[in-house]
Amino acid sequence: MARRSSRLLLASAVLALAVLAAAAAVPPTCERIECPAYEVVDSANGFEIRRYTDAMWVSTAPIEDISFVSATRSGFLQLFNYIQGKNAYNETIEMTAPVLTEVSPSDGPFCASSFVVSFYVPAKNQPDPPPADGLPVRRWAGDRYAAVRRFGGFVSDADVGEQAARLDASLQGTRWAAAVNEGRSGSQPTSYTVAQYNSPFEFSGRVNEIWMLFDAAKVGSDVN
Ligand SMILES: *[C@@H]1O[C@H](CO)[C@@H](O)[C@H](O)[C@H]1NC(C)=O
Repeated sequence: MARRSSRLLLASAVLALAVLAAAAAVPPTCERIECPAYEVVDSANGFEIRRYTDAMWVSTAPIEDISFVSATRSGFLQLFNYIQGKNAYNETIEMTAPVLTEVSPSDGPFCASSFVVSFYVPAKNQPDPPPADGLPVRRWAGDRYAAVRRFGGFVSDADVGEQAARLDASLQGTRWAAAVNEGRSGSQPTSYTVAQYNSPFEFSGRVNEIWMLFDAAKVGSDVN
C-alpha cells in the first residue's frame, strides 16, 4: 500500500513537471531586466500563445536592408543612443528586453526587406516617454496576442525565415491559424517579428523568439 501510494506520488510529480515544461518559462533575462508582462493563453507542440497588455515601444523608422542582422544592428544603435539620453529630455532610460525586429520580407531574393527595430519602454517611463526625432513611441492598445516560437543561439539571416516558417506550420490546423493569418495580412502576408533577449556578449543560454502578432477578437468566443 505504502509503495503504491509513493509510486502514485512519483507519477503525479512527473506529470506536474511535464505540464510545466509544456509552457516555456519566462526568458531568464527578464529576471534581471524589465520585460513586458504577458500571460500564456495556450501552448502546444512548437508554439505558445501569449497575451500582452498595454505594452509601449519606441521604434525606428523602417530600415531597408538585405540583411536582418545588419538592419537590427543599425536600429539597435539608434535606440541605444535614445536610452543613453539622446532624446528631447536628455533622460537616460533603463535597458529592457526583448529587442524586437519586425520583418517585412521582400518579394525577391536580392531585394531589400524592410525592418523596424523596437525597445520596450519601461513602466516607469510610460506615463511620459521622452520624444525623439524619427523614433515614434507606440502603445499597444488593449490586449495584443502573439503566437510565439522560441529558438536558441545567435540569430543569423538564414535562421529567421526558417523559424518563422516553422511557427507558421505548427499553427496550421489549430484554432489560432485564421486569426494569426489575418493579423499578418494587416501589414504584409509574410511579415513576422523577431524578439532577442541577450546582448552579443552572452554566449550561452541565448533566447530568441519569432512572434506573429494578432487580434484575439478574430479568434472566437473561447479566448479568456
Ligand atoms: C539637453 O542637452 C543639450 C546639450 O547639452 C542642451 O542644449 C539642452 O538644453 C538639454 N535639454 C534639456 C531638456 O535638458
